[in-house]
Amino acid sequence: MLHGKTILLGVTGGIAAFKAASLCSKLVQQGAEVHVIMTESAARFITPLTMQTLSRHHVHLDTFDEKDPAVVTHINLADRADLVLLAPATANTLAKLAHGLADDMLSTTLLAATAPIIAAPAMNVHMYEHPATVANMELLGRRGVRFIDPGTGQLACGYVAKGRLAEPEEIVEAVGRFFASQTLLQGKRVVVTAGGTMERFDPVRYLTNDSSGKMGFAIAEAARDMGASVTLIAARTSAPAPGGMELVRVESGEQMLDEALSRYEGADIVVKAAAVADYRPIVRHETKLKKTGDTLVMELEKTTDILAELGRRKKGQFLVGFAAETDRVDEHAMGKLQRKNSDLIVANDVTMEGAGFNVDTNSVRIFDRNGLVEALPVLSKRETAERLMRLIADRLPRRTGTEASL
Ligand code: PMT
Repeated sequence: MLHGKTILLGVTGGIAAFKAASLCSKLVQQGAEVHVIMTESAARFITPLTMQTLSRHHVHLDTFDEKDPAVVTHINLADRADLVLLAPATANTLAKLAHGLADDMLSTTLLAATAPIIAAPAMNVHMYEHPATVANMELLGRRGVRFIDPGTGQLACGYVAKGRLAEPEEIVEAVGRFFASQTLLQGKRVVVTAGGTMERFDPVRYLTNDSSGKMGFAIAEAARDMGASVTLIAARTSAPAPGGMELVRVESGEQMLDEALSRYEGADIVVKAAAVADYRPIVRHETKLKKTGDTLVMELEKTTDILAELGRRKKGQFLVGFAAETDRVDEHAMGKLQRKNSDLIVANDVTMEGAGFNVDTNSVRIFDRNGLVEALPVLSKRETAERLMRLIADRLPRRTGTEASL
C-alpha cells in the first residue's frame, strides 16, 4: 500500500511513544521507507535503537550530529519526505510547530518540510483541551496540518478521558487513505472561482462584497492535492492565493464569465465558490465621480449569472454552486440548484458563527437534485473543501475498463 512512499516519523515525548514502535513496523511492512526523528524526551520513553531496528535507518535526535558530510541532514530529511507523521504528537511539539520554533532536530526539520503533515496527538485530557493547545491545533489545521483524533479511554495519568494516541492500525489506515486521496482526481481538470467580484463605477470606486477567497482557495488546494490540474479564477480576495495551479486574476463578473467560459469545454469539474455581484452600475465614469448633491442615485443592471450560463451549456461537466444564505437556507439552495442546473449546491448560512464570509471555518449543507446529501459541522475551510471534493470524486462517472488499466 505504501510502496515508494517516504515517511518522516516524528516521535515526541509522551508515554504513547512506545506505540511508535508498532506504528513504525507496520508502515515498513506496508512498503514505506520510514525515517525516524525522536525528541530527547521521546528517547526517555523508548530507545532510538528500537526505532532504528524497526525502521532500518539511523534515528535522528541531534541537529548537530551530522553523519553524512554530503548533505545537511534536517534539510535532506525534510526534502525527501512524501509525508511527515507526528505520532505521538505532544502539546509542546504542536505548540512549537504552530509558532515556528526550531530548537531541536524535529522542530527544525518540521520548519524545513514542505510535505503534508499528519499529527496524532496524545496527552492528558486537560492538556488536550487547554485553550492554548486548542488554538495551536486550530492554527495548524488552517495551515493544512491534518489530525488523527486521540481516542477516549484510560490515560497513563489515571484519567479515563480523551487523549490516548490512536491505535497504530488506525494511523496506518489514515496514512493509506491520505496517499489514496492524492490520486482521487488524477487526470481531471478542475476550474474553481473564488473571491468577491468588483463592479467599478469610477476609476477608484466599486461595489463588492465580503468574500475573502478562503473557501474557494481551500477548494482549489484540495483539488490540487487530489491530483487534479486546477485553474483558479480569483476576483478580489484578502487571503494569500495557493500555488501549484493556474491562477487567473479578474475584477468583474463579466471578466470571470469570460475566463470561465473559455475553460469550460476542457473542464471536468467547475466549483463556483466566488461571490458574484448580481447587479453592476450601468455607467462607469471615466474620471473620479465628484461630490455634488446631497444624494446620489446610481442605476444598476443585472449581471450575467455565470453559474446559470454554465448550467445551460453543460456537456458532461460536473457543476457545483455555492449558496450564501441568511434565511430559509435549504429552500433557497434547492431553488438555486434547479434554476442554475448544477449537480450539487453547497449552502452556507452566513449568519451562523464560524460559517460563511471571511472566517477560516465553514459549516455547509450539500444538496443534489434529490435533496440533502450531507450536512457538515463547523470545520476548517480546508477540511470542508476536502469533504466536498471527495463527494464530487465519488459522483464522477466511473472510468472505463481500458482507461482504468492505463
Ligand atoms: O470567500 P470566503 O470569505 O471564504 O467566503 C465564502 C463564501 C461565503 C463567499 C462562499 O462560500 C459562498 O457562499 N460563495 C457563493 C456566494 C454567492 O454569491 O452566493 P449566491 O447565493 O449569491 O450565488 C449562488 C451561486 O451562483 C454561487 O455559486 C455564485 O458563484 C453563482 N453566481 C451568482 C451570481 C452571478 N451573477 N453569477 C454566479 O455565478
